[in-house]
Amino acid sequence: MTSLTFDRITKKFGDATIIDELSAEVDDGEFLVLLGPSGCGKSTLLRLIAGLTDVSDGRLLLGDELANDWGVHRRGVAFVFQTYALYPHMRVSENISFPLVMERFKPWHHIPIVNFFARRAISRKPEVTKRTEEIASQLGLTDLMSRRPASLSGGQRQRVALARALVRDPSLYLLDEPLSNLDAKLRTQMRSEITELHKKVQKTFVYVTHDQVEAMTMATKIIILDKGEVQQIGSPDDIYARPANTFVARFVGSPPINLLPVIASKQQLSSARQIWTHPGPVPTAESLLLGIRPEKLRLSASSQCKLSARVEIVERLGAETLLGCSLEQTEAPADSVISDDRQNRIFVRIPDNPKLQVGDTCYIDYSPDDVTWFDGARGNRIDDASRPI
Ligand SMILES: Nc1ncnc2c1ncn2[C@@H]1O[C@H](COP(=O)(O)OP(=O)(O)OP(=O)(O)O)[C@@H](O)[C@H]1O
Ligand SMILES: [Mg+2]
Repeated sequence: MTSLTFDRITKKFGDATIIDELSAEVDDGEFLVLLGPSGCGKSTLLRLIAGLTDVSDGRLLLGDELANDWGVHRRGVAFVFQTYALYPHMRVSENISFPLVMERFKPWHHIPIVNFFARRAISRKPEVTKRTEEIASQLGLTDLMSRRPASLSGGQRQRVALARALVRDPSLYLLDEPLSNLDAKLRTQMRSEITELHKKVQKTFVYVTHDQVEAMTMATKIIILDKGEVQQIGSPDDIYARPANTFVARFVGSPPINLLPVIASKQQLSSARQIWTHPGPVPTAESLLLGIRPEKLRLSASSQCKLSARVEIVERLGAETLLGCSLEQTEAPADSVISDDRQNRIFVRIPDNPKLQVGDTCYIDYSPDDVTWFDGARGNRIDDASRPI
């Protein structure tokens, strides 16, 4: 098993800083997910760990050892690329055993006429067949061993690519968006298969994705990146319940968190469209965003409660209903609250099937305990609502 330490890791391409002083610790056996939008530096960080590209500044430790200058082989990593390019002319068994065969290759085995026989001889060695069969069975490929990639489904090919990377028993598994070209059903299936595999092998995994569902369901630890900078490091629960800033809050959760610009005067909150009493502590920041997740909002029959809104979207999803509402203009607008239409749109997620239609007015209630406050100007979370900042 291998722990990882990023100590102020910086990566530059020319003048462009792609990763900026990233520091993080990853324990032995952890499932780390690197999550962030396209271009934020996820693959670059993975390639730095693998040794496929150099660190510009800072220290990368594998275990207790400084690994900045280690070659790819010394790092003992298995890398699963997004494009899993299998060898089309080889059977599944040959694709899987390929890394084991290459490990045992002698220089003269590369001579074309010798090559075929050398590969065949090595792939029949008992230790190679045993390991190949072992990993194939772990990934449910035993019945497909004599097929060629062209006759496999997308999910089966993905599993062969995983098996090929995992067959060498590496100390560190690096996976770069390995499920991105699978359909929704296969993704769900493969997600749990990879999680199972992690439990079984108990090695350190670093998994890149921009899919927050993958991150939330698979990770033991998530690093959220934006433009090469760490936004937050934490467990999935931590990141969901206590997002460090509005970027993280919006990135994780679907539909995204509601962020309503308000100003506070004691317990009174004013948005650009409404004034209401907030039954809990309010921070004394100049500019505030009231953050609340769609599933924490409730519909209320009374017009006496918090917010009134016009229903604009009704999505009945069977087990739950998603409402997209727009806050109604009920009070003289507070001029000092700047918001756009998007910020007056509120998503509500409810576990039943309300008799609401587009165009109806609904009343929305919340508990102050479910509110996360953000500084409207800087975007960071405000922890202590009763404490002035
Ligand atoms: N070899 C390179 N030379 C110059 N710039 C590069 C190089 N490799 C990557 N970049 C740039 O670094 C930034 C981060 O790229 P990277 O591939 O790490 O993003 P990513 O987070 O993996 O994105 P995606 O989700 O789209 O795969 C991008 O702006 C990219 O253009
Ligand atoms: Mg990438």
